[in-house]
Amino acid sequence: MRILLVGSGGREHALAWKLIQSPKCDKLFCAPGNAGISQIAECVDIPSEDIESLTQFAKNEGIDLVVIGPEAPLVLGLADRMRAAGIKAFGPSGKAAELEGSKGFMKDIVSKYNISTAKYGRFTDINEATKFIKNTGVPIVVKTDGLAAGKGVIICETEQEAIKAASNMLSGSSFGEAGKEIVIEEFLDGEEISYFTISDGKTILPLTSAQDHKRVGEGDTGPNTGGMGAYSPAHFITPQLEKQIINEIIQPTIDGMAKEGIPYTGVLFAGLMVKNNKAKLLEFNVRFGDPECQEIMMRLDSDLVDILEASTDEKLDKIAQTVKWKDEVALCVVMAANGYPGSYVKNTPIYNIEEAEKIDNVCVFHAGTAYNDNKEIISIGGRVLGVTALGKDFAQAKEKAYDAVKKIKWDEGFYRRDIGWRAIS
Ligand code: AMP
Ligand code: GLY
Repeated sequence: MRILLVGSGGREHALAWKLIQSPKCDKLFCAPGNAGISQIAECVDIPSEDIESLTQFAKNEGIDLVVIGPEAPLVLGLADRMRAAGIKAFGPSGKAAELEGSKGFMKDIVSKYNISTAKYGRFTDINEATKFIKNTGVPIVVKTDGLAAGKGVIICETEQEAIKAASNMLSGSSFGEAGKEIVIEEFLDGEEISYFTISDGKTILPLTSAQDHKRVGEGDTGPNTGGMGAYSPAHFITPQLEKQIINEIIQPTIDGMAKEGIPYTGVLFAGLMVKNNKAKLLEFNVRFGDPECQEIMMRLDSDLVDILEASTDEKLDKIAQTVKWKDEVALCVVMAANGYPGSYVKNTPIYNIEEAEKIDNVCVFHAGTAYNDNKEIISIGGRVLGVTALGKDFAQAKEKAYDAVKKIKWDEGFYRRDIGWRAIS
């Protein structure tokens, strides 16, 4: 098969790493990719949101399967365009991707199908929003309806703060178009986990759970990021909790979307708040998490192409029982550029990645990297490397990941030293 992978992050490097292990994969292209991906696939200089050029490329190159990593091209309808051109695409249609692309759409669907989630309201008018905030009380959560690169969620401790957040979003001053409509919802407390499944529109293949570290600072302090590290599975997941997540949250969503005439195919990633061993839905993402995908790919013991094809061919029921996982757990430490998540340094050289990769069961997945004219690897993004290790337990995976991190020489980068603390303490 000739496969085209779309995206340029650590998630895509991990997907590429797993895809090329499949005997079915003859040729892997990645658009646009990064320095790490270019070592194992042919990178094509097309941005992941250039739907037109990507479709043209896939037609010209006789691509058999397109794997779409990030949410933005999915929301823009890349999977629809590929399918219309007769090319298999792994990922939801643009309409189905609204489960992530519009928080209001997502909340309406899950409420209609009685899925446990925070009470909410949708607003375009500040007076109505203010009334809702006063009636609900604090803490309260104010969210942009549209995609805001993971930044459109503000947890407010006072009514004043919430009204200001709502007003800045609605006026367009804080998030542009994404905030012209907002969702305001009840604050949920508990412990957060991520749960990943794949659907073919009808059948669900439960994958696994993970826990992310969203804050930039150790001890979970400081501003939110895309994720500074993660591990899989979540340390407190039980078969019972998994059953509740699938039966009461994922399956009703897949069934509900089918009933609405918007069948959902691809990865469905649920962000959940767990309290007293019961999960409530915080959000849906229509893609793998980054850096959660890195651990999941290292733990997966089955052929990824088989799984993705079973989703695009509506045959997940045929393989659901055969998917195998390694016995080990996995943990990923993200190395980021100084300054991230604020404005950060760029074009700084990184050395000794090969040394780090010599450690058994360690992979260094690239995110924001490129080659400079001297063929050195340089940083070009905020999150730059995802150093991922398998281990027999979290303590061992952590030790290996940090041994590898310490071999990498990058003066302008930093990392959290406490990834996995919840699982290990
Ligand atoms: P999101 O961008 O939707 O992933 O939200 C970012 C983060 O905000 C989530 O990972 C949660 O930590 C937090 N969050 C979102 N909604 C709520 C809520 N209703 N209650 C508490 N925390 C929330
Ligand atoms: N790491 C969280 C996300 O990918 O949304």
